[in-house]
Amino acid sequence: MSASSQPVRAPGPARPRPTTPTGALAQAHRIAEAVDQAWHTAAASDRTEIPLSVVAALALRTPDNADERAWVAAQLTNTDDNGLLGFLRATWQLFARVRPDLFPRIALLAAPWFTEPAPDRDLLRAVRRVVHAALRAGLHELLDAARYDVDLFGPLLMVLRTRGARAARGQYYTPPDLADLLARLGGTVPQAGELVVEPTAGTGGLLRAAARAIRDAGGDPRTIRWVAVDRDELALAALATNVIIWDLGSQVLIAHGDVLADDWQARSLGERAEVLALARDVHQTSRALALLRHLDRGDSDPL
Ligand SMILES: C[S@@+](CC[C@H](N)C(=O)[O-])C[C@H]1O[C@@H](n2cnc3c(N)ncnc32)[C@H](O)[C@@H]1O
Repeated sequence: MSASSQPVRAPGPARPRPTTPTGALAQAHRIAEAVDQAWHTAAASDRTEIPLSVVAALALRTPDNADERAWVAAQLTNTDDNGLLGFLRATWQLFARVRPDLFPRIALLAAPWFTEPAPDRDLLRAVRRVVHAALRAGLHELLDAARYDVDLFGPLLMVLRTRGARAARGQYYTPPDLADLLARLGGTVPQAGELVVEPTAGTGGLLRAAARAIRDAGGDPRTIRWVAVDRDELALAALATNVIIWDLGSQVLIAHGDVLADDWQARSLGERAEVLALARDVHQTSRALALLRHLDRGDSDPL
């Protein structure tokens, strides 16, 4: 993807823009259906993590500004396979740099773009179809209009997974209007510094509703300590992406495991501590390398 072009309007008709939470949910379903169809007609594969990763990357890189959104859409529509792969790699690298604490949860979404051998042309063709389908169905517009009100990934995982697989996993997410009602039932909302625990979190629909109730009451979800558990790794990868989309802040622990077993908390805290230590080492090493390069350049500079 070239960064030198001027912003241009994305080709194609005007995208629908949701104006109500119900409209946002309907549009999330339309996007999910469009992505599912694009993926399954282009790739005879049940690698659900691929379309999920592509939609998550598009969502994470949705600019706030309309001209930039149009520019990104046009770039992604016109780029070649290398550009597409570069966009996906850069997005997940950026995620790892910005939120190393959540990296174990999104590793499943990042891994396909860094494997050797690199993804083949057939896979990238299917990826391209998914990108086009999601953008044509109005992904950017939905996030611009309703990012705090919508869970893109609940509907997407539901359609991407076969009916049988959904039933086996108990994968039927709470409708957002019901989640919003539940979040307000007690009459009080979580206060700054309080802990909110969701033991069967899925893609995080109940956390979204809680965050919305907190915002509506004048609070800030970034001041809450969030803990979410699930045994479904893909749903948790979607939830880790939603943490950024919904701006839930830095105090988030997403644990993979069986909530009925007693080791999920210690295990996920240990995992997070390890990855943060690794991120610190990488940061220090890259700073040391930058310093060495600087000194090296200084030595070879003519006086
Ligand atoms: C019906 S979905 C609900 C998701 C979310 N709470 C909502 O309301 O939209 C149930 C979720 O619970 C998870 N789950 C069921 N039993 C579990 C267990 N013992 N430990 C961890 N997660 C579990 C499933 O993987 C699934 O994602």
